[in-house]
Amino acid sequence: MAGGNDTPITIEASTRIKRLPPYLFSRINALKASKRRAGHDVIDLGMGNPIDPAPDFVVDKLTESAHDARNHRYSVSIGLYNLRREIARKYKRRYGVELDPDNEVVVTIGSKEGFSHLMLAMLGAGDTVVVGDPAYPIHVYAVALAGANVISVPLGNDEAFLARIEHVLKNLFPRPKLLILNYPHNPAAMTIEELFYRQAVQLARQYNVLIVSDFAYGETCFDGYRAPSFLATPGGKDIGVEFSTMSKPYNMAGWRVGFCCGNPQMVRALATIKGYYDYGHFAPIQIASILALRNGDEFVARQALVYQKRRDVLVAGLRKIGWEVELPRASMFVWARVAGKHLAGQGTIDFSLRLLEEADVAVAPGRGFGENGEGFVRIALVENELRIKQALRQMDGCLNGRKRHQRPSRLAAKPDSDSQADGEHLTSHDQSGIIGG
Ligand SMILES: Cc1ncc(COP(=O)(O)O)c(C=O)c1O
Repeated sequence: MAGGNDTPITIEASTRIKRLPPYLFSRINALKASKRRAGHDVIDLGMGNPIDPAPDFVVDKLTESAHDARNHRYSVSIGLYNLRREIARKYKRRYGVELDPDNEVVVTIGSKEGFSHLMLAMLGAGDTVVVGDPAYPIHVYAVALAGANVISVPLGNDEAFLARIEHVLKNLFPRPKLLILNYPHNPAAMTIEELFYRQAVQLARQYNVLIVSDFAYGETCFDGYRAPSFLATPGGKDIGVEFSTMSKPYNMAGWRVGFCCGNPQMVRALATIKGYYDYGHFAPIQIASILALRNGDEFVARQALVYQKRRDVLVAGLRKIGWEVELPRASMFVWARVAGKHLAGQGTIDFSLRLLEEADVAVAPGRGFGENGEGFVRIALVENELRIKQALRQMDGCLNGRKRHQRPSRLAAKPDSDSQADGEHLTSHDQSGIIGG
C-alpha cells in the first residue's frame, strides 16, 4: 500500500450524534423486518404512517404541473408565495388567525424537518427546553442535536401540568428558553381546550420563555371536538410559532410538506437556516399542496371520520381483551395502558417484542417515548377496520390464550361483512414502517 501505513483509521461521529439518547425502537424495528422477510404478515400498528390515498384532485395537479418544465428548476427555500398565502388563508378560515405570508409563514420539508431546523436556529450550548414526558421523539432529539438540553416534565393537559412547568421555569437557572407543546398529543392523544393555551401564554410571558406548538393532529379530531390552534390565543403570535403539516390530514406524509407559522422573528430564524441548507420543495408538490389547502376541507373531515371509526373498533376490542382504555378525541393513536396481567412484570419494550413475536402485531412501546410512557403502548389507526379486528383477535389469542391466531402466512381473504361494505381488504399496507414516527 502506498506509504505503507497500516495504522487503522478511526472514524468518529460528532459529539452532536453521540449526545443523542438511545433509540429504543430499534429492537422492534429489527424484529419486524426479520419477520416480514420470513413471510409473516405483520399487522403494523406501530408507526403513524397514513395508509389511505391523498386526494385524487391533488395527485392530478401534481402530475399536470410535473409536465411543465418551468417547475423543475430550483424552488425557493421558504416556499412559493402562493402556498404561504394559502396556509395563511386556511388559518384565517379555520381558526380566525391573521398571518402575513411574507413574514409569518415558512414552508418546511415536513414539520419534522422544520421543527428540527427551528431548534438549530433558536438554540445552542447551554440553552434548555421544557418538554412533556412522554414525547414525540424528535421533540427531544432535535433539541439534543442543536446542542441544547431537555428538561422533561410529566405530561399533562391541565393546570397541574402548567404548575409543574412553572416550577421548572422558576427554579432553573439559566432559565429555559423554549417550551414545546403538542396537542392533540403524540403519543398520548391528549387534547386541551383553549383556556389551556391562554394560561400557557401567560406563563410564557411571565418567565420570558418561547412556545413551539406542534399541531400535526390539529385536524384529526373526533366526535365534534375541534382542537384549538395555539396561534388563535391572544398574544400567542408574540411569543411562539406553530407547526402544521399536510402529512396526516391530507394523507400526504411522503410528500413532506409542513408549515411553521407565527412569530416573525422565529419564522425568520428558521427561514435563515433553511436558506443555507435547502432550495425548497419540488414546485409541483407545492402547487398541488396549494390546491389541497384550498379545496380539501371536506376531504380532511372525511379522513378524520375514517380514523374515528377505526378508533371505535380498536378501543372496543381492547376493552374486550381486558384493557382499560380511554377513548381519544383526536390524533391517529390510541394510547393504551396494558393490563397488569398481560404485562406480567415486563417493560413495554419486551411486551411489544412478545406481541410482535407471538401475535404478529406491531405496536409502539410507551417506554420509547419517555419514562412516563412505561406501562402504555401506542397503537396507530393505520390499518383498515378489518385488519384492526384481525389484530385484536391475534392479540387476544396471544394474551388470553382464547383462540389460536393465524400465523405465519398471508391472511385468508374472508372479510367481515361490515368491512366488506366499506370496501376494505385484508391486505398489509406498510411494508417499511419504522416505529417511532
Ligand atoms: C406530533 C408530530 N409532529 C410531527 C410529525 C411529523 O410530521 P411531518 O410529516 O410533517 O414531518 C409527526 C409524525 O408522526 C407527529 O406525530
